[in-house]
This record gives sequence, C-alpha cells and structure tokens, in this order.
Amino acid sequence: MNSEIKPLIAGNWKMNGLTEDLSQIRSLALSLRNDPAHRCEVLICPPVTLLAQTTQICLSGAVVSGAQNCHIAQKGAHTGDIGASMLADAGAQYIIVGHSERRADHGETDGLVNAKARAALGAHVTPIICVGETHAERLGALAMTVVEKQLNGSVPALEIFDKRVIAKNLVIAYEPVWAIGTGLVPELDDIKTMHAAIRDWLVERFGEEGEGVRILYGGSMKPSNATDILATANVNGGLIGGASLNAEDFLQIIRSACD
Ligand code: 13P
Repeated sequence: MNSEIKPLIAGNWKMNGLTEDLSQIRSLALSLRNDPAHRCEVLICPPVTLLAQTTQICLSGAVVSGAQNCHIAQKGAHTGDIGASMLADAGAQYIIVGHSERRADHGETDGLVNAKARAALGAHVTPIICVGETHAERLGALAMTVVEKQLNGSVPALEIFDKRVIAKNLVIAYEPVWAIGTGLVPELDDIKTMHAAIRDWLVERFGEEGEGVRILYGGSMKPSNATDILATANVNGGLIGGASLNAEDFLQIIRSACD
C-alpha cells in the first residue's frame, strides 16, 4: 500500500444485522480501543436501522460509522427513502453509493450514482463509489472499459468538490461483481492492473490530488487473503462484506493492513 495514504478498512453489513448483532461492533470497538490500529481507519456500515446505535458504540473514536445508500435529495416526499443529511445526522461519515447489488437490484445507473455521490458531498459525508465488472465482461476482456465508463459516469466533476480536499472527500471501491460473496478473488496481478488504471483515471480527472484518493478492493476478502491483497500497489484498503459480520474475522483483516 502507498504508505502516505491511510488505509480504510470498511465493513459493509448489507441487509444483515439485528440489535443483538451490535455485540460484534461492541467487541470490535473494544479490541481497537485496547489495541488501536493507528495506521488505518476502520469503518462499519451497518443497515440503517442500526446506524445511530453503531455511531454511539463507536464514539470512542477507534471505529467510525457509515451508510450503504442514500437518496439524491436531502429531504422531501420520498416515502421510505433516506437523505444523506439524515444519515449524517445519525453519525454517518461515509456513504457507499453505486454498490453492484444496488445497480442490479434497483437498476441504478451511473448518472444516479453520481447524483447520490453529490448528495453525500452536499451533506459533508464522503461517498465511497463502487465500480466493477461482471464475469462475462472480464471474460470478454471488457473489465477496463466497463470500469472506466462507470468512473466517467459515477464520479462527480472536480467543480462539485468546491475546493475541498479530494483525497478526504472521495473513496473508490473496485469490486468485481463475480468476486462478491462467491469466494472467488482475481489474481493479484489483475487487482494490481485494475487499481493502477483507476489511479491513472483519478490523476487524469483530479490532477495531483488524485494520487491521495483511496482505492479499496472488495470481493471475498477474508483473513486468509487480506494480507496479500492489501499489500498490492494502489490497494488502499478493503470493502468487506461477509467477513465483516464477525468481529474476529474483521479484526484479523484490520491487523493485516495495520500492524
Ligand atoms: P463479500 O466480502 O461478502 O464478498 O462482499 C463484498 C462486498 O460486496 C462489499 O461491499
């Protein structure tokens, strides 16, 4: 990992977690309070029902909380939806936008993802913008083209950041769709190549500031493969699904990046 960039190890709980599962977050926060992971930032994005409680548990500062989605508007007549400023009010410091599950389940387009990222920025929350190819696209040698198109459409223009430090206000997550929840992981060389291409894209879009933007890898990251993945060039952290539900597994991944 680029030693100048503080890695972000983020857990995406997806549609998992009841009140009783907050014990995992308590246990994680306690472990990190006793033995802090100074070299990286740790984030948990629980379902929105647990966000405010997660924020309370994380007040010690060892872990921060985030959300998994937001509406493009901050408030209004949108029954069942939640605005970024409401998530910020519940303590979210990051909002995941454009996850492939939302792109697939809800037909979210690059344009919509871009609007959600702008809504997050409007609420002073950092968007984590997800991109990644399907298996068919990888087999068809289209992975780069697809990811570049997603970046072009989903990442807000420089002006939207309005003089804010880009590196603090933007995170990209590369999550190959075929690696999510499958146990399959790309070859390290393929991760390296894709992350280098995303870095080039960021520098082209944002100039030198693009050098500091964190690029996370996501897709079947586990304690057994995290050390190698997180040591790959331009991998500045992870977006972890299944393995973040268990405090022990998640801690092992955190230690891989931070010890
Ligand atoms: P898994 O770690 O369960 O493969 O999920 C990855 C992911 O989608 C994180 O956003």
